Amino acid sequence: MINNTIKEIADNFTQEISRVKSGQELEQLRINFLGKKSAINSLYSDLKKVSIEEKKDLGAKINNLRSDITQKINDLKSDLEIFEINQKLEGEKLDLTEPARSEFKGILHPLTKVKEEVENILSDLGFDFADGPEVEDDFHNFSALNIPKDHPARQMQDTFYLKNSELLLRTHTSNTQIRKMLSSKPPMQIASLGRVFRCDSDKTHTPMFHQVEGFAVGEDVTMGNLKWVLENFLQRFFENKNIELRFRPSFFPFTEPSAEVDINYGIDNQNRVVIGKGDKFMEILGCGMIHPNVLSSCEIDAKKYQGFAFGIGIERLAMLKYGINDLRMFFDNDARFLHHYGF
Ligand code: DAH
Repeated sequence: MINNTIKEIADNFTQEISRVKSGQELEQLRINFLGKKSAINSLYSDLKKVSIEEKKDLGAKINNLRSDITQKINDLKSDLEIFEINQKLEGEKLDLTEPARSEFKGILHPLTKVKEEVENILSDLGFDFADGPEVEDDFHNFSALNIPKDHPARQMQDTFYLKNSELLLRTHTSNTQIRKMLSSKPPMQIASLGRVFRCDSDKTHTPMFHQVEGFAVGEDVTMGNLKWVLENFLQRFFENKNIELRFRPSFFPFTEPSAEVDINYGIDNQNRVVIGKGDKFMEILGCGMIHPNVLSSCEIDAKKYQGFAFGIGIERLAMLKYGINDLRMFFDNDARFLHHYGF
């Protein structure tokens, strides 16, 4: 009887172990065949019912079966472990021959690049830098710059006014002149770069654009100094020593005398504007000697001190240097434009 059961268990085990595929299944098999409630365990109780001679023989057979099953389970356990580790390693395999992922580098917007170039040159020429607020009051944007209310010059600058407020969006960076002259004492030589706003929009105007304002105040600041600064600035900016400037008398309320400066250029065979090569002239900036009324508004003694000032559009500089012909492209954020002109 016991002999039969031993054979049955052995056959059963052989069948079942052949189906085991994982460590978990194997553990279940171990519990079934070697655990307290296993068939082998109950064989040991059956031994009590047989004679001493038989007990010896059968006991040895049961022990053999038990150690045989234990051995097979242990063997399979280590095989399965190796198999599972290999499977895991397979999933983590790196193909070192695959091409590397390309890097995506950030690029500078052409305006950022030009702003940096302008700042570097002006700082080499001895300018300190200051920022003025974009939301400004009438005094700093207009009256202190000798543009009283109802002055026709206000119409030159279409202003955005804030609702239910005396405040406005600055129409030029000249407001920084006033703020710096009020807060520090001459001599001073300051530049300010930033956004300005006018209600205007077409191919040559956008409601927001950038300007740089430069000015110097001292006891002996002259128009000659202004001319030197502008010539050096533009020569370095356009990387061209053949730059010629023409100072044309003009009018700004905040300067007297005032001038518009024209720069020489030519057209190359691809119909592109080339600054500094050719005998045509185009306007590039406005400038002049700071009006005595402006100095007085800022509590600077206009009899003792004088100064120069100039204002330049950053987009205009960028368009001329890098051959960009539509102002609106700067603000469209078209990735093709940025990749073409970005730095
Ligand atoms: N503020 C002028 C504008 O926005 C530019 C300008 C012209 C600034 C002459 C100046 C200057 O400082 O002297 O159009």
